Amino acid sequence: MTHAPIIEMHGISKRFGQVQANDAVDFTLQHGEIHAIVGENGAGKSTLMKILYGLYQPDAGEIFVNGNRVNISSPRRAMHLGLGMVQQHFTLIPVFTALQNIILAKEPRKFSALLDYQQAEERITALAAQLGFDVPLNVPVESLPIGAQQHTEILKVLYHGADILIMDEPTAVLAPQEVEGLFNCMRNLRSEGRSLIIITHKLDEVMAIADTVTVMRRGQTVASSPIADTDPATLAEMILGEPIIPVSMPREQTGKATPLIHLENVTLSGGSNTTKRHKWKNAIKNKESGKRHLDEINLEIFPGEIVGIAGVEGNGQTELIQVLTGLRHIDSGTLTSNSERIAHVPADRHRHGISLNDRIDDNFIIGHHKNRRFCRHGILQRKSIQRSALNALDKYQIRVGDIIHPIRTLSGGNQQKVVVARELEANPEVIIAAHPTRGLDIHAAEFVHTRLIHARNRAKAVLLVSSELDELLHLSDRIAVMYNGKIVGIVKPEETTKQELGALMLGLN
Ligand SMILES: Nc1ncnc2c1ncn2[C@@H]1O[C@H](COP(=O)(O)OP(=O)(O)OP(=O)(O)O)[C@@H](O)[C@H]1O
Ligand SMILES: [Mg+2]
Repeated sequence: MTHAPIIEMHGISKRFGQVQANDAVDFTLQHGEIHAIVGENGAGKSTLMKILYGLYQPDAGEIFVNGNRVNISSPRRAMHLGLGMVQQHFTLIPVFTALQNIILAKEPRKFSALLDYQQAEERITALAAQLGFDVPLNVPVESLPIGAQQHTEILKVLYHGADILIMDEPTAVLAPQEVEGLFNCMRNLRSEGRSLIIITHKLDEVMAIADTVTVMRRGQTVASSPIADTDPATLAEMILGEPIIPVSMPREQTGKATPLIHLENVTLSGGSNTTKRHKWKNAIKNKESGKRHLDEINLEIFPGEIVGIAGVEGNGQTELIQVLTGLRHIDSGTLTSNSERIAHVPADRHRHGISLNDRIDDNFIIGHHKNRRFCRHGILQRKSIQRSALNALDKYQIRVGDIIHPIRTLSGGNQQKVVVARELEANPEVIIAAHPTRGLDIHAAEFVHTRLIHARNRAKAVLLVSSELDELLHLSDRIAVMYNGKIVGIVKPEETTKQELGALMLGLN
């Protein structure tokens, strides 16, 4: 007996204003497979999955679940059909705890007063343990690191019994060892007979986890193939529609001068000089270990170099960026900054990088609104703002329908490109970049890399925090490894290996 595919989408089209996000797309998911969807930023991947999950209604096309034609009018309907989705940008309610977020996602019931929280908590704790997740269930999710928020999203979907799991760029926010954990979890779910869809920009991940891969380009499906019949180079070519030519960017030797940033014995404990939101986080961490967030940090960043920061998330990188960007005051030591012109590409673009409901062009001047080009005598210079935004959109190849639309209508990668463009184009002397290529396709990531090297060659000082060792090794002049709030080693890329970095990151040296 042959099964009908668990999901079939035929001729799906969706237009947003001038953008044809999906253009007669076909997509098939088989029972018990892990199916990867790849494609450049704005290709239409998230749109297709949001249609499957009932968040958008298609303009045309049909969807079949187990061979039956269905009308997925809402996420609730999708849940009924066994679908669950972890979105690219999380949908948790920030002030609710993880437990509340997980439990309350279920449709309301008549006797909600009888909801057995304790039993639910036990089940969720067991599920989390099975998946290897370490999520504090009883603090507001807004105070949790991104990785834990994602675990909450996954728990939420599984707790409600989804047997088709859609994950939109789940690995973008995870550290390498967390990715391995997620993949193990996905394999377990597959062996239980569930079917999974994963969107990712990382082709090595596709090769490692998927059974089948579908490639999208400019709103269409251009290929679908078993993993065994393809390889990363072929995929890259299909994604871009042309062979990739790696750009090589010569690194120029720049003479060392005085450092633009100098930290001497900088220490930050989980004290009281923080905002309310961070207090929560500190409370959790301090209870765990009573540790210092930053412990006697010594670091110089000279003009003309890229200093990489490696480390497992939660070992002080966030706090280092907070003190460097003035969000938190240090408790002891000295922090000298010889420049006012500091650009910051934040790790969490939704929380700190953009203003979702504001116009795309206005998002380009956040932080620069006092610049005379954009504002004179208290009046915004619309023409100048638009010209500058259009230039940046063109230079960074950000495809948008209209720059007066709210920025939330851009694809995830294109939102990230806006943040990077705004920060790098403002001619900073110091660039603090946290995961600048997160969510970017191969092309865009490479473009950002060349911009960073370009900045370095023009005597800017760059601090690059990244969870990707390849990126750090490729770009950095020196890599500082953080563990437990300390810098446990500073190494040169040409003199180290991933193994050595990994050992330092785990505190093994
Ligand atoms: N709600 C919306 N309103 C207007 N335009 C939209 C909306 N959602 C998506 N788009 C547009 O549709 C196109 C496809 O977007 P989509 O989010 O599906 O891309 P994606 O393949 O997921 O890209 P990424 O890799 O960057 O996440 C983009 O040009 C995007 O700007
Ligand atoms: Mg997307």
